[in-house]
Amino acid sequence: MKSIVILISGRGSNMEAIVRAGIPGGRVAAVISNRPEAAGLAFATSHGIATDVVDHRAYPSREAFDAALAEVIDRYAPDLVVLAGFMRVLTEGLVRRYDGRLLNIHPSLLPSFPGLHTHERALEAGVRVHGATVHFVTPSLDCGPIVVQAVVPVLPDDDADRLAARVLAQEHRIYPQAVAWFVSGRLSIDPVGRVLLGHEGAAPGGMIVPALDDDQEIS
Ligand code: GRF
Repeated sequence: MKSIVILISGRGSNMEAIVRAGIPGGRVAAVISNRPEAAGLAFATSHGIATDVVDHRAYPSREAFDAALAEVIDRYAPDLVVLAGFMRVLTEGLVRRYDGRLLNIHPSLLPSFPGLHTHERALEAGVRVHGATVHFVTPSLDCGPIVVQAVVPVLPDDDADRLAARVLAQEHRIYPQAVAWFVSGRLSIDPVGRVLLGHEGAAPGGMIVPALDDDQEIS
């Protein structure tokens, strides 16, 4: 059973989607928040999942906070660390510590709109499609190898809230999928930094990239 640690800062709906998905071969060992008031902590507790708070305001520097965070994360010996609405920029040291086993979800079609306020910026730019991206985390913000993306249309009467809700529904679909792929050992990263999706049980080095037909569901 692979140990999964999920980091949140607030609502935790992506964390909830991952927990509710019941990933085969994966166990959510802990949910850790940098904010004691994060609403998602109550959901985790009610599902018998260990919770911890590492309040960033109690630490004098980013490095000190990340050191404390790593200590708590490592108690659960995670195979995978999942950032799910975790609103802190991590130091390079922390990112490297979990190299290849740290995932994030970002509410845009990366590399468009890294950073904050993605839905407002998508509307301002007049893009016709928007979406969400699950990616491996690297030291450059919102830049790591892309695992999966979901696309939604931008409709004429959209405001940021309506667009965000449409994107969030897709986040809840693709994040559990990406975690399931990771847990079943199907993800690898090729030499130029692209993610490959191999068949279950594929030998290391024998990964293949399935081509998707227009009407084919990801699986
Ligand atoms: C999501 O839109 C996620 O993409 C972004 O922050 C939001 C978190 O929402 N990183 P939730 O806490 O998972 O409900």
